[in-house]
Amino acid sequence: MNGEYGLLDTDEAEAPGDEFEEIDVSDTEADRIARERDREFDQWRKRIKNSERFKVQESAFDDATFAALYKLVQDGYVDALGGPVSTGKEANVYEALGGERSLKELADGAEQVAIKVYRTRATNFRDMREYLVGDPRFEELGDKKEIVLAWTRKELSNLERARKAGVRVPTPIAAQRNVLVMEFVATEGQRARRLDEVSIENPETAYGVVREYVRRLYAAGLVHGDLSEYNVLFYEGQLVIIDIGQAVTIHHPNAEEFLERDCENVASFFRRQGVDADGAELYEWVHENADPNK
Ligand SMILES: Nc1ncnc2c1ncn2[C@@H]1O[C@H](COP(=O)(O)OP(=O)(O)OP(=O)(O)O)[C@@H](O)[C@H]1O
Ligand SMILES: [Mg+2]
Repeated sequence: MNGEYGLLDTDEAEAPGDEFEEIDVSDTEADRIARERDREFDQWRKRIKNSERFKVQESAFDDATFAALYKLVQDGYVDALGGPVSTGKEANVYEALGGERSLKELADGAEQVAIKVYRTRATNFRDMREYLVGDPRFEELGDKKEIVLAWTRKELSNLERARKAGVRVPTPIAAQRNVLVMEFVATEGQRARRLDEVSIENPETAYGVVREYVRRLYAAGLVHGDLSEYNVLFYEGQLVIIDIGQAVTIHHPNAEEFLERDCENVASFFRRQGVDADGAELYEWVHENADPNK
């Protein structure tokens, strides 16, 4: 049954570990641009107001977020911004036309990217801290802005890590300040549906794939931390794991608790689809079959 839901080959998977890169969030190019507001940036802002290429109201973003988008355009990651795909508590997701540098990362013929814009204001920072504290990558974080910036970089690095581990996630492309650019998982411009939105023909097989992805993540030293039918997309026969910003390393003090919860969420969804699934069994199976310290 392998391949039916697009289980990726593990040939390219890397050995796990905690050797994450250091993340510097002290100041970003976007902050500098927003501060200096040079002529070019100002002119760009003005043009955007009446531009067909920028469907999002300029007023939807604060200055520094706007500058982050500007930088992504300048750097060749984004060509044009489309409408919202999702508006949430912590972040909004927009569709966009990828720039040259993005297209290089995407499958042949793909043109769109998804842009996830984290809110720097109305975010629930206590919740974020719960995930960040204890993660060696995010020691000594200061104010709210820094936390959100770290969060955005963390989602990018988690996506990269997951991909290397053989887990199907949106291809990570770039992060700038509070803005993340990744593959837009969509068919003919329509975002892929989440598991909660589709009826699955073969839930048994799908459950097997999700189990394997939980195991591969764990073997790569990561626990998703918010896994459920709401964060798995069904895309042209594949299952794609999304929303991986809060994922923690297995050394995080709450990693086991998060893993237990993920397993329970996943099992209870598939139980409702008629699969004989059990969260505790999944949790144990992951431990028995993934040795992150190997
Ligand atoms: N790369 C992507 N391709 C296609 N659709 C996406 C992509 N990323 C996100 N989406 C869509 O946007 C929605 C929100 O994205 P995501 O789950 O990453 O954010 P979130 O943190 O859950 O936001 P919030 O919880 O604040 O609503 C998803 O449920 C999915 O439908
Ligand atoms: Mg989500």
